[in-house]
Amino acid sequence: MTATATQPSSDEQKAGAVPTFTVTLKVQRYNPEVDEAPHFETYEVTAHATDRVLDALHQIKWEQDGSLTFRRSCAHGVCGSDAMRINGKNRLACKTLIKDVNPDKPITVEPIKGLPLEKDLVVDMEPFFDAYREIQPFLITNGHEPTRERIQSQADRDRFDDTTKCILCAACTTSCPVFWNDGQYFGPAAIVNAHRFIFDSRDDGGSQRLEILNDKEGVWRCRTTFNCTDACPRGIQVTKAIQEVKRALLTSRF
Ligand code: SF4
Ligand code: F3S
Ligand code: FES
Repeated sequence: MTATATQPSSDEQKAGAVPTFTVTLKVQRYNPEVDEAPHFETYEVTAHATDRVLDALHQIKWEQDGSLTFRRSCAHGVCGSDAMRINGKNRLACKTLIKDVNPDKPITVEPIKGLPLEKDLVVDMEPFFDAYREIQPFLITNGHEPTRERIQSQADRDRFDDTTKCILCAACTTSCPVFWNDGQYFGPAAIVNAHRFIFDSRDDGGSQRLEILNDKEGVWRCRTTFNCTDACPRGIQVTKAIQEVKRALLTSRF
């Protein structure tokens, strides 16, 4: 962002106005109907110190170029739909304050890497969700339905509490160099969601999920790079979860 602060007038100060500044964004654009390759376009927007990158993208879309295409929904870090590369790092646009991403230079905004590009900042998420579906992300139980809720101790719940926080934003998987080089790798998000059930004491499908992840495109492809952990907007210890799944495979204690 090239930030040029505009001091509020004395009237604005009295009214509690927040100072604004000019921000430059370099946004990757790609329209498959007319463009041979993606390219960058530069926009200037007026921002407040409290604005997020998503606010700047909205300002471009609503005031400068309505054709700019990106996913977003909740705008509050819950739905996971607006993961993108901001200054080269995967983040949620709605959780990234403009003032926190090097406000003295243009902010680059690109789509997440490793998934097929559809338009501007939108990628095809189907390969990502295919891997997610493959690990069977639902409770599997044997025997009869209980007549009351399935009781679980606090200690048992704690074994997988961290991985329940996933919002399927794909920031982890699309920051993983193994995934970039081999789109067949299940990727950290699928493993995190397998972990969530493998270590759930109420679930009986652990062995089949471990068998799935023992595949040549499964957990053993992970090279402990930690990009996934750095990228996760929910602060999930992604690499640690992957290591726990590897250990479960080695010890078969699940
Ligand atoms: Fe997103 Fe984190 Fe879930 Fe990965 S583990 S999909 S980064 S919330
Ligand atoms: Fe990739 Fe994360 Fe492993 S970035 S290599 S899945 S630690
Ligand atoms: Fe929902 Fe950002 S718009 S997480």
